[in-house]
Amino acid sequence: MSRLEGRVAIVTGGAGGIGAATGRLFCAEGASVVLADHDAGAMAAACAAIRKDVPGARVHDVVADVGAEASAANIVAETERVFGRIDVLVNNAGIRAYEPLAQAKRETWERLLAVNLLSYAYLSREALPALRASGRGSIVNVSSMHAFIPRAGMGQYDVTKSGIVSMTRTLAFEEARHGVRVNAVCPGATLTPFHEKRFAAAGQTRAQIEAIAARSCLLRRWASPREIAYPILWLASDEASYVTGTALMADGGGLTTQPP
Ligand SMILES: NC(=O)c1ccc[n+]([C@@H]2O[C@H](COP(=O)([O-])OP(=O)(O)OC[C@H]3O[C@@H](n4cnc5c(N)ncnc54)[C@H](O)[C@@H]3O)[C@@H](O)[C@H]2O)c1
Repeated sequence: MSRLEGRVAIVTGGAGGIGAATGRLFCAEGASVVLADHDAGAMAAACAAIRKDVPGARVHDVVADVGAEASAANIVAETERVFGRIDVLVNNAGIRAYEPLAQAKRETWERLLAVNLLSYAYLSREALPALRASGRGSIVNVSSMHAFIPRAGMGQYDVTKSGIVSMTRTLAFEEARHGVRVNAVCPGATLTPFHEKRFAAAGQTRAQIEAIAARSCLLRRWASPREIAYPILWLASDEASYVTGTALMADGGGLTTQPP
């Protein structure tokens, strides 16, 4: 339980399902963690839960809209002020939109690009001096299986997730000489409080929710947020010291032809 002992990590979208699970796991593995999120209430709850689950957890929250460029420098400065260094950056904040491309609005495009893609670029740029100074800096970008697998109805989101994979590869090339590894995790269907609320609002039963995942991957079930946090942890840690520029699928086998 000490894979990140002495390290300092930033996790954006840290109040959400995957971000909070990652923050909890990182704290349990010895890291000092800054959770950055624009939802102050959810973040207070996430921090309280982490402190309860992980005695002595070093977790600090920064309320920020990562869709605004200036937030990146603020989050980095606050992390260095509180914990004195940065070793790991997990770009995880993400929003969704359900517009077919034929009806896609400019405001939706701009918001998704700002939060899902440009926030990753600006946080990486601002954190890189500290990550280079770390000597074992690691960036983990949370993309999606839909960076690679097409579907109808979420084109703007899927474009940002493909862009994240491309950015990951370029940054890995650029930063290898500076000792910073850059990788992406591509989750499949992960049952987070966001999805739970969405399904409840749509009146879907537990059986209907399970059926969605059963159709979507070989393992025929949803991932828990913790099952995505573990691949993120691995890529962030020294156990992945020879891994950079990769996109790790954490998708239960993905959208494939189902076995009988
Ligand atoms: N859950 C899934 O099935 C799934 C699948 C593939 C990829 N992902 C990706 O994983 C990441 C985390 O997803 P999740 O399911 O935990 O989502 P979530 O909605 O539970 O959490 C996202 C978090 O990001 C925060 N956030 C949104 N906009 C923000 C902004 N402008 N500034 C700061 N914080 C902001 C939200 O407040 C929320 O806490 C996202 O990038 C998502 O696209 C999720």
